[in-house]
Amino acid sequence: MRELTAEDFHASQLPGIYGQSLLSNVERKALLAAIPAGKGRILEIGTKDGATAAYLARARPQTEIVSIDVFNPPGSDVLWQKNKQPNQWLFVGDIVAFTAQYSQLFDVVFIDASHYYVPCCVDLAHACPLTAIGGLIVAHDYGRERLSKPFRRDHLAGVTRAVDEFCTEHGWRIDRQVVSLAFLRRDGFSPRVA
Ligand SMILES: C[S@@+](CC[C@H](N)C(=O)[O-])C[C@H]1O[C@@H](n2cnc3c(N)ncnc32)[C@H](O)[C@@H]1O
Repeated sequence: MRELTAEDFHASQLPGIYGQSLLSNVERKALLAAIPAGKGRILEIGTKDGATAAYLARARPQTEIVSIDVFNPPGSDVLWQKNKQPNQWLFVGDIVAFTAQYSQLFDVVFIDASHYYVPCCVDLAHACPLTAIGGLIVAHDYGRERLSKPFRRDHLAGVTRAVDEFCTEHGWRIDRQVVSLAFLRRDGFSPRVA
């Protein structure tokens, strides 16, 4: 893997979008590349200002982008509504409340909510049955505690532990990693998306 630079971790201000995308440019482009160009459905768990979601929605106008967030503390929800594109909708609550009401399948489930171990396990366990056959789960902030300074973040170790355990216990594998985005696939299924 190439040597990482500060650019690989910078949150980004995007033209015409309020607030910040907490993915770096290279991570956001890799996430976009994993989304099919035609009709499809994406779930984002943890959206904050909705900047990444709006970017994806603009780039993939035929894709339905569903975001969920607890918005605690509130504030980002106002920016989210300003950023909203016609192909987006929002569920306010966590993944447990969401799955109690909705059971549709998604091509990609992007997890970027709480970074503590237990909530990450909950997000992954609920994302699994929502992910279409051949689909992807993408987890942000994976492996940050394994990097050297200044990019190392020990407090994000819960993400790595939860992802690694999930893969072992549920038959998924890390297909590839782009900076701190881990792209997960079910073992034994050929890709439906890039
Ligand atoms: C890192 S930010 C999301 C950034 C966004 N994905 C982006 O790319 O810009 C994390 C968000 O997750 C939300 N959050 C925290 N715990 C959550 C949970 N259990 N369920 C849903 N959202 C949660 C927070 O309110 C916050 O807005």
